[in-house]
Amino acid sequence: MTFKTTILTLFPDAFPGVLGASIIGRGLETGAWSLETVHLRQFGEGKHKNVDDTPAGGGAGMVMRPDVIGAAIDSVPLQGRPLLYMSPRGKTLTQARVRELSAGPGVVMLCGRFEGLDERVIEARGMEEVSIGDYVLAGGEVAAQVLLEACVRLLPGVAGNAESLTHESFETGLLEHPQYTRPRTWEGHDIPDVLLSGDHKKIEEWRRSQAEALTKARRPDLYAAFQNTVATRARPES
Ligand code: ADE
Repeated sequence: MTFKTTILTLFPDAFPGVLGASIIGRGLETGAWSLETVHLRQFGEGKHKNVDDTPAGGGAGMVMRPDVIGAAIDSVPLQGRPLLYMSPRGKTLTQARVRELSAGPGVVMLCGRFEGLDERVIEARGMEEVSIGDYVLAGGEVAAQVLLEACVRLLPGVAGNAESLTHESFETGLLEHPQYTRPRTWEGHDIPDVLLSGDHKKIEEWRRSQAEALTKARRPDLYAAFQNTVATRARPES
């Protein structure tokens, strides 16, 4: 089954962009996923095909018009796909949401520009606002590519090694342990002995304790959530 993606944007030339490279690009060629862009300008108003106007109530910048964006959205058959609006106001994207999306039929995404989108169209079309982090980009195009790359790499047949996907950061609730490869000594620094011991149980324990220590130091928020799930799992059912 193909993961179908439709991107509504003022910059269709920005796609596939980086998504044309490497395993994600190969997945596009083999039909693991498909990409369609819809140029918002096509739905613009008047001689200049305007898609934006000044904010009601005054203030800086421009706002995307609900009639223009509504018409663009209505031109796309959703086919059971969620309608996402990439915006710094959205709920922050997580690996759990990425997993859910990648298990579905695909996504339809609106990339914003300017100061934002008229609130009425967000509500009327039931758009899900998604942020990729607490910083502001110039537009939603890069954010859409981030979301797509995260989803597509999980599709069957896209990443070579399915096992490597289950051990990585966020899938276990912990950041990933450090990795090493040859040479055994580099600039006077050795690979930790335990990794060369051949003792798989000890290696697993070492990796686990490294992952916990790293998560505790760098991401106390993730670590607290992780401890919570461990505690919940350990608790006998009542
Ligand atoms: N558009 C601008 N900034 C964004 C962000 N942080 N996430 C998603 N879309 C955006």
